[in-house]
Amino acid sequence: MSKKSRLFPKDRIIFPLDLPNLKEAGRFVKLLKNHVGVFKIGLELFVGEGPDIISLAKKESSAKIFLDLKFHDIPETVRRALTAASAYGIDFLTIHCDSGQKLIEPLAKKTCQNPIVLGVTLLTSLSEKDLAEMGIRKELQDPLKLVLHSAKLAKAAGCNGVVCSGLEVKSVKKALGRNFITVCPGIRPLWAIVKQDDQKRFVTPYEAVKNGADYIVVGRPIRDAVNPVDAAKRVAQEIGMALS
Ligand code: C5P
Repeated sequence: MSKKSRLFPKDRIIFPLDLPNLKEAGRFVKLLKNHVGVFKIGLELFVGEGPDIISLAKKESSAKIFLDLKFHDIPETVRRALTAASAYGIDFLTIHCDSGQKLIEPLAKKTCQNPIVLGVTLLTSLSEKDLAEMGIRKELQDPLKLVLHSAKLAKAAGCNGVVCSGLEVKSVKKALGRNFITVCPGIRPLWAIVKQDDQKRFVTPYEAVKNGADYIVVGRPIRDAVNPVDAAKRVAQEIGMALS
């Protein structure tokens, strides 16, 4: 990614505001605004609190805003939703890539000039066994193959990048070029303890960035740490090490 060299390690940390209400989210925005580069607003907070959370995050910090609603519907509905979302002045948006080019082509090419549009490839909570259970055809049950397949569709449709795990990021960059933005969730520092973890395809911050991740999503290891600021600093240190 061309902007890569201009980003400080902390700028590559995406912190998901996976919190129940505006008050709690605001507390974390204030706490982490100088220690992460992007605040990600997902379903829980946006459904519960609406766009006020975007205004709050923009008012309290200069971090980028990622509206992660993972749109998935018929093309016209998704296109209209993306137009509405873009009006909030956000920096990143997500759409699902598994509905084929017809769904994402019109919106990625025509609608989203400003926000970076990322295609979700395969949730990091899914494993090969889950794919078999979901009826995914045999040759795509290897997560890497499915991720590359989705990433190619996303690129062909005009997406600026994809969300994928740190295990696949190297292959995605190799296949689709270094300017194709990669955002990796499923990040688990060796020192983090996450209770009842649902992530199955995870790597450390160091490994993800070393493999080519432009941004990493780090939620519970920071949110649930005894000292979230220290945890964010440790993640930034690992990113710095991977880049040096
Ligand atoms: O680090 P942690 O597992 O707590 O991060 C959870 C966050 O990562 C959630 O906001 C979830 O939406 C996001 N995520 C994602 N894509 C995935 C897996 C998780 O955006 N494939």
